Amino acid sequence: MIQCLGDRIKLSDEKNMPGFGLGCYKAMDAEVERAVRSALEWGYTMVDTATRYENEASVGKAVRESGIDRQNIFVVTKMWPTFYDKPQKAIEYSLKQLNIDYIDMLLLHWPGTDETARYRAWEMIQKYIDKELIQNAGVSNFKIHHLEAMYQAFGKMPAVNQIELHPWYPQQEMAAFCNENGIAVEGWGPIFRGHIKEVPLMEELAEKYGKSPVQVTLRWHIQKGFVVIPKSSNPQRIQQNADVFDFVLTEEDMEKIDHLSCGKHFGNDADVYTGEDFQIVLS
Ligand SMILES: NC(=O)c1ccc[n+]([C@@H]2O[C@H](COP(=O)([O-])OP(=O)(O)OC[C@H]3O[C@@H](n4cnc5c(N)ncnc54)[C@H](OP(=O)(O)O)[C@@H]3O)[C@@H](O)[C@H]2O)c1
Repeated sequence: MIQCLGDRIKLSDEKNMPGFGLGCYKAMDAEVERAVRSALEWGYTMVDTATRYENEASVGKAVRESGIDRQNIFVVTKMWPTFYDKPQKAIEYSLKQLNIDYIDMLLLHWPGTDETARYRAWEMIQKYIDKELIQNAGVSNFKIHHLEAMYQAFGKMPAVNQIELHPWYPQQEMAAFCNENGIAVEGWGPIFRGHIKEVPLMEELAEKYGKSPVQVTLRWHIQKGFVVIPKSSNPQRIQQNADVFDFVLTEEDMEKIDHLSCGKHFGNDADVYTGEDFQIVLS
């Protein structure tokens, strides 16, 4: 479990990654630049973007202009499944948009439905790892059978699976599988994607601990051992969201939060989602 904002977790391949970062979905241009700048100033060491978010250029600009040593910032981006049949173009596009020397972690954003293309994309990422233009690779929204198939194909599990994760949708079976197989679990949508007001328990626990409902939720993730990437564009909330290292939820309260599990989630079904609803020209 991480103990402070800059703490890193060890990955199966002996590399490591920060346990806490800034999500950048649905923030564009000056808004996301300001968010990344605020986060880095406040001590965040990881930013999570994707080609799909169409903000890699702004995220990269904020990283470059932060004045912080590049090696102390961990930049995660993701390849969209419709590009798995042109992975080199997709990687070059991300590198050009971000305009940084290397990507710390590149994730396959969704498994997609074309297994051959998915593996071609994975192999291309490995070539870029060899060239040191990408430091590490992982996947996102993979189900257990997708991970098992990766193992069959490559003899190795990915280091990370970034999945939708919050108390309504804790994905216990997936988390247990990842733990058993040395895959770090990273949660997207960690603070209910803005729906936290619909969770009275968090309000109740917030009062008990003298923290906010969002802080209690993030603390639950941390105590579960999940990597967490709450998104905010608001500098004050970015700061507050990271202030989660001065209290500990009791086992009893962790269990109470566990009982919120109800299957409610926001994401697509990874078995059928092709990603074709997002189109851009890679140039
Ligand atoms: N791999 C994938 O398929 C995938 C999918 C979705 C997301 N992600 C990644 O995961 C990150 C996090 O997920 P998410 O953005 O979907 O959801 P989230 O982090 O659970 O929730 C973000 C929402 O919470 C609000 N918020 C943030 N701090 C708050 C606070 N202290 N009090 C009240 N509201 C607060 C934000 O609004 P403000 O900005 O106004 O504060 C925003 O509306 C994304 O940004 C993205 O990087 C990955």
